[in-house]
Amino acid sequence: MANLLIVDDERSICEVLEIAFRKDGHSVETVQTVAAARQKLQSKIYDIVVSDIKMPQASGLELLQHVRNAHPDTLVILLTGYGELETAMQAVKMGAFDYIIKNPSQYLEELKVAIDRALETSQIKAENVTLKRELKKQGGLDNIVGQSPPMKALFELIESVAPTQSTVLILGESGTGKELVARAIHSRSQRCDKPFVSINCSAFQETLLESELFGYRKGAFTGANSNKKGLFEYSSCGTLFLDEIGEMSLPMQVKLLRAVQERKIRPVGGNEEIEVDVRLLAASNRDLQNMVQQKQFREDLYYRISVIPIHIPPLRKRPSDIPLLAFHFLEKFNQQMGKTIRCVAPETIRLMEKYPWPGNVREMEHAIERAVALEKGSEISPNSLPERVIGGLEPRTGALSLIDLPEDGIDLEKHIQEIERNLLEAALIRAKGVRTRAADLLKMSYRSFRHYASKYGI
Ligand SMILES: Nc1ncnc2c1ncn2[C@@H]1O[C@H](COP(=O)(O)OP(=O)(O)OP(=O)(O)O)[C@@H](O)[C@H]1O
Ligand SMILES: [Mg+2]
Repeated sequence: MANLLIVDDERSICEVLEIAFRKDGHSVETVQTVAAARQKLQSKIYDIVVSDIKMPQASGLELLQHVRNAHPDTLVILLTGYGELETAMQAVKMGAFDYIIKNPSQYLEELKVAIDRALETSQIKAENVTLKRELKKQGGLDNIVGQSPPMKALFELIESVAPTQSTVLILGESGTGKELVARAIHSRSQRCDKPFVSINCSAFQETLLESELFGYRKGAFTGANSNKKGLFEYSSCGTLFLDEIGEMSLPMQVKLLRAVQERKIRPVGGNEEIEVDVRLLAASNRDLQNMVQQKQFREDLYYRISVIPIHIPPLRKRPSDIPLLAFHFLEKFNQQMGKTIRCVAPETIRLMEKYPWPGNVREMEHAIERAVALEKGSEISPNSLPERVIGGLEPRTGALSLIDLPEDGIDLEKHIQEIERNLLEAALIRAKGVRTRAADLLKMSYRSFRHYASKYGI
């Protein structure tokens, strides 16, 4: 609940507001002048100041300016008469959180909604500060962001395998960060100041891949006009990362196996063997073990490269990493695009946590990049997410279609809850994540909507 300071020269209004907000559990103080308000602000931190605009001595705008300068964490909501709309809008430009028109029949309800929203905003601000701190704290492992238990385990594994000479096989769906992990291993190894060379095995035909990896000798094939070194030699004393190793042809696998076993390579068209000192890392988004069973991948090579396997879990298995990743990418693209979007709105985070992210972190990175480009407001709203992510909240239709009493009866309470939940989600989708609008669609107050939303964890 909030610390509120109410400023209005009309004592009766102060009293009404004080009673109403006390009842809601807020701590409320009231004063009748801007001077008195300034004094109060000196000795206590208020979450929200609710102030009338027109007052006999100093105006609400002056108070607004003072609060913005001296107490930037305190939000200001202004009360205004009908005649002062323009002033009110100017106030919002000056940094007021909102203004409410003193329409006797509804301003109290509107003010309550505004206060709830203001509180939510300060909460996000506070969350952002914590996220920023966490991001710094865990910045340890290069650019790999994550705080979920599987990611913490991954960091530990990387730390322990990095200093060894072992071949590491990095497995994970597309976009989970396999290349990041490979680079992290290299940068934490003793080879860190030697080259890290990466090759995507699926990008080359068999013969080309061979000459890419092992080099060739002049005259080996048409066009081979001179000797050329291969990547094994280029990454000498460093690390060679064989990405998408599952796409390598079987004959090429034989050649690679020999290189791994004997630590020697033979350039295409050459007779001599060259000794190489290279640490190998490999990655694949395919189930290599299964490929071994299907005879699509050589068993001997598989055992050679999978001395230490590292599995990166898909993003949908670790939704607790989503807020931190969102913030990480927000900072990245804010910087790239010269924008100053403050945060990712909680509704946006909730939607992202429910979406399964088949393209994993890469897909999420692109979604935030797009959102930062599109966003006009000060926080990433659900509207800026791609349709498919918002649509991830598709209501489950099962409960709604059930009208007849089933043969063996029904758990009525659970069934009704399911319907409530479905309708709440549907309203939130239709309202593009704007909760007040979703509440309107369900003909309920914003407060009740919030109550139900938190009950169902929406
Ligand atoms: N944990 C993470 N923290 C920060 N960024 C990440 C993380 N995981 C992935 N990324 C980012 O997502 C993108 C994809 O990562 P990466 O290229 O390493 O994935 P990959 O597993 O190699 O994917 P593919 O199989 O498609 O090649 C990159 O831009 C990377 O920086
Ligand atoms: Mg990759």
